[in-house]
Amino acid sequence: MPPDHVTPETPSERRIPFVDLRAQYESLRPEIDDALRAVLESGQFVLGRPVADFERSFASYLGVRECVCVNSGTAALHLGLVALGLGAGDEVIVPANTFFAAAEAVIWAGGRVVVADVSEDDATIDPGAIEAAVTPRTRGVVPVDLYGQPARYDEILSIAARHGLFVLEDACQAHGAALGARKAGAFGAAGAFSFYPGKNLGAYGEGGALVTNDPGIAERVRALRDHGQVRKYDHALVGHNFRLEALQGAVLGVKLSRLDAWNAQRRRVAGWYREGLAGLPVRMLAERQGVLHAQHLCVVRVASRDAFRRALAEEGIETLIHYPIPLHLQTALRPLGYGAGAFPIAERLCGEIVSLPIYPEMSRELVGAVCAAAERACRRPGPSGGDGR
Ligand SMILES: Cc1ncc(COP(=O)(O)O)c(C=O)c1O
Repeated sequence: MPPDHVTPETPSERRIPFVDLRAQYESLRPEIDDALRAVLESGQFVLGRPVADFERSFASYLGVRECVCVNSGTAALHLGLVALGLGAGDEVIVPANTFFAAAEAVIWAGGRVVVADVSEDDATIDPGAIEAAVTPRTRGVVPVDLYGQPARYDEILSIAARHGLFVLEDACQAHGAALGARKAGAFGAAGAFSFYPGKNLGAYGEGGALVTNDPGIAERVRALRDHGQVRKYDHALVGHNFRLEALQGAVLGVKLSRLDAWNAQRRRVAGWYREGLAGLPVRMLAERQGVLHAQHLCVVRVASRDAFRRALAEEGIETLIHYPIPLHLQTALRPLGYGAGAFPIAERLCGEIVSLPIYPEMSRELVGAVCAAAERACRRPGPSGGDGR
């Protein structure tokens, strides 16, 4: 077994990884191996039956009409924007605290990124900030279901309707999450998923999908992912090669049947963290009422975040930051002209958030070990300890 899986004798030797994809593979090995072998034997490696089968299953799981697989979540966002008719200079509103892909997709699709601040309690885009950012050039908004929690769609959809904007949902971290009876991905005109290996539903390589109830959008994305072809060598649109590999479709087909159980297990792990961290100056982000959280990440706020991470790292506990630099302060987006202080909530969050290890196979004992290390970190004298101030 690789070092990730060794349960050592003493806590000081223990390593707690951020995710453990090997443990998941072990639980699925015979089915995955059979599915991969079937693709190898078929000789068809690009799109093909495993991808088409998965597209049907995922659409039905989400309760949407169409699912079009592509080779990354970024490609899904990009082609979604093109299919929605984004034109040169059209403005699209994106949250200040998210992965860079949403901004990239807007720019590659010819649009202009407009940043909006996030809500302090759950770090998803603030509907009031969306409304304040609308101009006559605004065409759409890309809310992000950050960390596995759907954005505030009740308010976002009514703002969008009021201003005639499209909503392209970035559900790349929210496979299987829901808000009321509706699953993440199904809120806007279209939704984008990533199947990057560490996602709640992950391929064994790159992958993504655009889901929609609009057959016209699906048809355009289906052509755009394959060089704009409507028939072989008949190019109706200028597209890309964003096709998903058959091997990834086969893996996703096996994994989809486990998604709800894995998400339930992630929620359990998050619950153990909530209990174990209670009373410490380590605050979990809010889970809003009516949300079924996919707990892609378990993000907490700590005032002395960097010292806290160092203390955990000394105990072999891997943590990450999602994300250390807000979108508007990224070097590549400097031409947008935003400066420090433009989006204070996102900026404050970026200085305090830390993502703790979470994966469905994580045991209560390991969560307990992380919480105990967190308590020791908080008790340390100096800037790393106490109340963190
Ligand atoms: C919120 C969000 N959007 C978009 C993406 C991009 O997905 P991909 O890495 O598959 O291109 C990611 C992936 O990390 C993500 O977390």
